[in-house]
Amino acid sequence: MRISLTINGDRHEADCWEGESLLFALREKLGFPGAKNACAQGECGSCSVLLDGTLVCSCLVLAAQADGHAVTTVEGLARGAELHPVQQAFVETGAVQCGFCTPGLVVAAESLLRANRSPSDDEIREALSGNLCRCTGYAKIIDAVRLAAERA
Ligand code: FES
Ligand code: FES
Repeated sequence: MRISLTINGDRHEADCWEGESLLFALREKLGFPGAKNACAQGECGSCSVLLDGTLVCSCLVLAAQADGHAVTTVEGLARGAELHPVQQAFVETGAVQCGFCTPGLVVAAESLLRANRSPSDDEIREALSGNLCRCTGYAKIIDAVRLAAERA
């Protein structure tokens, strides 16, 4: 089947089979490799994107379900060469090591800060609880989101 969707503000089309995930379509067919595939089971959050503004694991969404909808990936957050404030805060606080989890965490943090400009540490932890990092521990990630919130 052919799907048509808006990704980061631009219209895109792709041919997909009925069982194909949005994550696979984004990465392998549509040229958006920012969302990462780690578990493909909704457990790690590395594939996080926004679907019509709602945070989802794109590995759990069928590409067909995104037909006609708007997707925001991590590629859509920066403004040209200027990093999104959450991305900038991740860099400045040392919240990135291998970086594999970072796109999903950045998308999840952006989603949190859009809904809550001044989250408590507990609210940050809860909002990011679906995103696993295998490298950093979480202290610097929490620091990054706190810093981005302070600057918002
Ligand atoms: S790859 Fe989607 S949650 Fe892990
Ligand atoms: S920085 Fe490596 S998995 Fe998080």
